[in-house]
Amino acid sequence: MIQLNERKPILQAINLRHEYEARGQKIVALQDVNLTINAGDFVTVVGPSGCGKSTLAKIFAGLGTPTSGEALYAGKPIKGASSERGMVFQELAVLPWRTVVGNIGHGLEIAGMPKAEREQRVAELVRLIGLEGFEKKYPSELSGGMRQRVAVARTWATRPPVILMDEPFAAVDAITRLTLQEELIRLARTTKQTVVFITHSVEEAVFLGDYIVAMSSRPGRVLEIVPVPDMGINRTWEQMIRDPRIEAIVSRVFELVRGRAVAPSTERQHA
Ligand SMILES: Nc1ncnc2c1ncn2[C@@H]1O[C@H](COP(=O)(O)OP(=O)(O)OP(=O)(O)O)[C@@H](O)[C@H]1O
Ligand SMILES: [Mg+2]
Repeated sequence: MIQLNERKPILQAINLRHEYEARGQKIVALQDVNLTINAGDFVTVVGPSGCGKSTLAKIFAGLGTPTSGEALYAGKPIKGASSERGMVFQELAVLPWRTVVGNIGHGLEIAGMPKAEREQRVAELVRLIGLEGFEKKYPSELSGGMRQRVAVARTWATRPPVILMDEPFAAVDAITRLTLQEELIRLARTTKQTVVFITHSVEEAVFLGDYIVAMSSRPGRVLEIVPVPDMGINRTWEQMIRDPRIEAIVSRVFELVRGRAVAPSTERQHA
């Protein structure tokens, strides 16, 4: 069993390469990807559209096999999907025929958690995502932002050591997105799970991450690991945009993902 608070590698990509073949044409999505993510990290991965972010998330989730190189979970090669690595997709991942509590508790039911314990865990999550009073509503009765909160809580409920999130807020309006991001930070910092958050928004990456993995355009490679100063569990957008250090990081990451950075320091690793 993985100890969630230990600072040891939980996800690793070693010389990872991934090719797709479509109608006789080869597309190299990822090339020479080397990355180590430690347990408890909140990592954001940012890069231009089509650079292989979703491909990387799927490989870590066990939903895709690299063409060459290795993807490791807790030091062992990833072979197929596992309840240890939950994934939140961009497309809405809630069950329309289940209520809010029915959706959040679904994975716990499958895992056979006793009812009383399950109800307690679900109630705690409902509170964390701010949906008290909506417990018995169906997804069709919720706003898009509320549904996305349920999707996040659903994956969170079973407490997988690793949560992979592939642009989970892309379809949510800008204002709701700010709230969801702040909630996500509190949720992640409270539970100390490892989160890999994929986004094409540089600001979102900087706001959420302990560090940012900046990727090149396709074939995707890791250009640089950019650390973000610790802003604490209650970081807010207001606090972030006033901080000149953050402004500098946003500029740096923009340079990197737009391919305008001078001498990318590929050897740099986070502390
Ligand atoms: N099933 C597939 N078959 C063929 N090519 C694919 C397939 N899935 C992805 N690709 C190609 O691989 C590359 C990487 O795709 P991927 O979805 O990983 O990118 P992404 O960084 O997540 O992009 P976005 O930001 O637009 O979501 C793209 O150029 C895409 O065209
Ligand atoms: Mg994608």
